[in-house]
Amino acid sequence: MSFPKVVADAWHMVALSRDLKRGGVRNVTLCNTPIALFRSEEGLGALVDRCPHRNYPLSLGRVHEGALECPYHGWRFAADGACTKVPGCSAETRGDRRLEAQSLRVLERHGAIFVTLSHDAPPQLPLPPDFGNEKLDHFWWQQGTWKGRAFDAIENVMDPFHTNHLHHGFIRRRDRRLPVDLLVTSHGDGIDMAIEQRQPDLGLMSRILERDRERSVSRYYPPTTVQARWEGKEKLTLCVTAIFTPATDGSFTPFARFSTPKGLAPSWLKQAAIRLFLAPVVAQDRRALAQQHGVMEHFGNPRFTTGPGDILGDRLHRLWKGERLEEGKDPAVRAEL
Ligand code: FES
Ligand SMILES: [Fe+2]
Repeated sequence: MSFPKVVADAWHMVALSRDLKRGGVRNVTLCNTPIALFRSEEGLGALVDRCPHRNYPLSLGRVHEGALECPYHGWRFAADGACTKVPGCSAETRGDRRLEAQSLRVLERHGAIFVTLSHDAPPQLPLPPDFGNEKLDHFWWQQGTWKGRAFDAIENVMDPFHTNHLHHGFIRRRDRRLPVDLLVTSHGDGIDMAIEQRQPDLGLMSRILERDRERSVSRYYPPTTVQARWEGKEKLTLCVTAIFTPATDGSFTPFARFSTPKGLAPSWLKQAAIRLFLAPVVAQDRRALAQQHGVMEHFGNPRFTTGPGDILGDRLHRLWKGERLEEGKDPAVRAEL
């Protein structure tokens, strides 16, 4: 396994609830492990995508009588992995451990399905603030599986300096920068960066969507979640929770949950506006992560130089590997974004 143990052992979001209807089966890959996710009348099941009989992919099967049926010889497996039937044979199979598929723990919260590969993951899902806050409108955005490493995507969203260049004109501008203060706070189990500025960014998106932003804060919740919050004079204006689920060593599946205060505009309108403006930005990041990964693959290893703008240093990577940080605030950094 090429992921740090804390990553491989964590709970991971693997699908949106709406993408797995009752009677449906889906193949997802988590930390290099293919998984057959299915939903029967009895609820959700997650099995390692490998029939114990002759190694057929279970995700090609169908849901039948509360179980997932392998297409090859029709063995059926319940969500707990028990083999409930071997067609054509009258032998009782349920208690026979040898015939079991490998089952995984699965949970569903707030329109999302989470799986863990580990027996040691906590019974409760750790969720970031406001994830299920009923006072906010929420919507999910998912765009398939991307080329690149989950960790590099996390670093990308925690890094404000790329926004002037890669997203020139959309978020910020490379030719006209604004003075900002960058305030980094290390928490034992995470890190955040606040950007304080006196006027909204000069990119198109900020000009149209934002009025009175004073501050934005991005916080990394290891191993795979980053939450960015934009705060106006009085309150939160937008909260984006991005989850980067590692699929394989060279691919990941990003999920984004957008949360906005109720009442400003109808939820569908906010959703349409956010999607419209964010789509090109997301496409730029997607291309950049794929390019970056192509270079790392070619040279066989990542090699990073930390420059003056990389004020988080190696702290994201240490958190990713499961280390804790010493708590405290960095001195404010003056920069131009
Ligand atoms: S391979 Fe799955 S039932 Fe035989
Ligand atoms: Fe970006």
